[in-house]
Amino acid sequence: MSPAIGGTLNRVDGRFKVRGESRYSAEVPVTNLAHAVIVNAKIASGRITAIDTSEAERAEGVLAVLTHRNLGRVATVPRLLPSLAGLAAPGQTFFPMQDDTIHYGGQPVAVVVADTIERADHAGTLIRIEYETTPATSLLDQARDRAYVPERIFGGLLPGHASRGDVAKALAEAEVCVDATYRFAPNHHNPIEPSASTAVWEDVDRLTVYDSTQGPNAVQFTLAELLGLPPISIRVVSHAVGGSFGSKAMVWHHPALAALAARHVGRPVRLVLSREQMFTSCGHREEQEQQITLGARADGRITALRHHKLSLTSPFDDWAEPSLQSPSVAYTSPNYEGVYHLVRGNTITPTFTRAPGEATGMFALECAMDELAERIGIDPLELRLRNYSATDPESGKPWSSSGLTECYQRAAELFGWHDRDPRPRSRQDGQWLIGTGMASALYPVTQPVNPQRARARLYNDGTAVVEAGVSEFGTGVFTAMTQVAADALGIPVERVRFVGGSSDLPNVTAAVGSAGTSAVGSAVHLAATQLRDELIRRAVADDHSPLRDADPANVEVRDGKMVLRDRPDVGETYADLMHRTFAPDVEVLGTWNPPPQDAGYGVHTFGAQMAEVAVDADLGVVRVRRMVGVFAPGRVLNRKTAHSQLMGGMLWGLGQALLEATRMDPRLGRWANASLGDYLVPVNADAPDVVVDTVEVHDEVVNPLGMKGVGEIGVVGAAAAIANAVYHATGRRQYELPITLEKLL
Ligand code: MOS
Repeated sequence: MSPAIGGTLNRVDGRFKVRGESRYSAEVPVTNLAHAVIVNAKIASGRITAIDTSEAERAEGVLAVLTHRNLGRVATVPRLLPSLAGLAAPGQTFFPMQDDTIHYGGQPVAVVVADTIERADHAGTLIRIEYETTPATSLLDQARDRAYVPERIFGGLLPGHASRGDVAKALAEAEVCVDATYRFAPNHHNPIEPSASTAVWEDVDRLTVYDSTQGPNAVQFTLAELLGLPPISIRVVSHAVGGSFGSKAMVWHHPALAALAARHVGRPVRLVLSREQMFTSCGHREEQEQQITLGARADGRITALRHHKLSLTSPFDDWAEPSLQSPSVAYTSPNYEGVYHLVRGNTITPTFTRAPGEATGMFALECAMDELAERIGIDPLELRLRNYSATDPESGKPWSSSGLTECYQRAAELFGWHDRDPRPRSRQDGQWLIGTGMASALYPVTQPVNPQRARARLYNDGTAVVEAGVSEFGTGVFTAMTQVAADALGIPVERVRFVGGSSDLPNVTAAVGSAGTSAVGSAVHLAATQLRDELIRRAVADDHSPLRDADPANVEVRDGKMVLRDRPDVGETYADLMHRTFAPDVEVLGTWNPPPQDAGYGVHTFGAQMAEVAVDADLGVVRVRRMVGVFAPGRVLNRKTAHSQLMGGMLWGLGQALLEATRMDPRLGRWANASLGDYLVPVNADAPDVVVDTVEVHDEVVNPLGMKGVGEIGVVGAAAAIANAVYHATGRRQYELPITLEKLL
């Protein structure tokens, strides 16, 4: 029996997906179902002065019209907490429809409940609302002078300001300096499945919510706080989730509104966000700009890095996606300063989006590195190697594992980097200018702050069920968990069923920050290992077992049979032991306690990205011709799903570089392109030849299986490699994402 881990097991949920049998939260069959539709504010700042719902209430099929006047108050508005805790995780500290104030365009102002979604939708158009409008801030450019440095950002997890050494002195003394400012358009997640909640009250205090989420437990705890109920009253189920990219990491207002509406009408209520509402209801990557100042010696050794970031946040929360972590440790730099600056604007609180923070932070750093290489006259890859840090430059501690130099080397081989003529505009293919570029990829290894739990149960026929509260939103986590459990128990994957997607199951973190599979996987590994050990313990203690009195350390399990390691003919199956001892099943709860963040190691994931682009010399059109990404994500559980994750990440990097932007109309304070037709994402026709490879690193520090995560590292650096390639092709630096063709004309 070869190990399942490291194999290419097909998605265990694939069959259901292909047959259309996966149950998404808007599809769960519920009897007597009513439908809720949210009505959104048409202004971005001000107050409701009058609201007339009478016509809507009289419309056919309408059961209720809820506004701030009759919704009732939520019990508490919890403080912002990162959902990695597996606790309450509201996306913002503001809950709508509590008073007449309007803080941002698209803020919910009414909820209509009707017997069909079409009738609810129509009745929503009949509500007459009058507003008093006050000036709104929708763009950074409108309020730069009001910028401030927050004490902490990111739900309080990170400081607003960090430094080491003396950056001003080092920059003044530097032989070479690069100073550049990069601007980033806001981005929206745009998963194919819009967020949806179906709320069913079974009694006055028993609520089930079918919710499209990255973390059922986070939704359970958030709803408990908002509704003023104990967690035992609330069950959150997430059977299948159609993508997320961070939009379903935090808990936004719609599940609570669905629950309140259901309680109001005394019927189950389904609330599905429209595509347009997905742009104003679950956060986004904020509009931001980042200034990088690099000081270096003439040989390219970096002596100073200053990294300032300015973000447009909401009126309520000091949110900036954390962009400074990976750049601060990417290279040796004795002098460093990183500062977040925020501007309050009329927007929902921004949130995690596709490699949150580091995708933009590393873009800025890696483009500046390309400029530095050119200034000094050395190869961009050589510049990275000269500044490679074998220890965490922040703490001075060794990396738990790295693999970065191997990634550079492998990527260079696969790409053919070393043939490169460094001169910009030196290659042409017909009307196309050809260029190549590279970038480093770094992403923090995020550890959950609380213990992760999983349950493993073996039945007396030798099959096993393994459970944890994690939801499957397209990462392949259920498949990987099946493999982890099978190997730990010593049984084939066909005999394992992984069950997740419910808050009734053992509590695990919401799957965010590339940490879902590693967090849950560690718990599953421990649960299944302990279950195996329990069966072995019973066997060696049982008079009728051929393993009686054997040393448990000398027993292993092969294909469901416990055998002596050195005499595999001696032993018995789990099933035989359980039948003989009248055990219908055996169950254990495994708990993984994540190592403290300040253990003796720097923990990061590393990789290298390379890209070749063709730029139409006359039209400015950019086509990415090739991408190579090589990553060192630690243990790879499933080569197929990991490859998909990494390749998908790289294509999202292509989107970040060339396509993705949500455009704000500052006159209205509203998004101007809130649809899948107008918000561009890469499609198959945009996708180049993408080569993905991994470098094996063993990591004994991060978790029991040595997994560092593949969810987001593929995004990081991809856009910088493309932008650097565009420079190489055209001789024109790009300081603003996305790089649209008018910037190249
Ligand atoms: Mo992920 S964007 O950290 O939910």
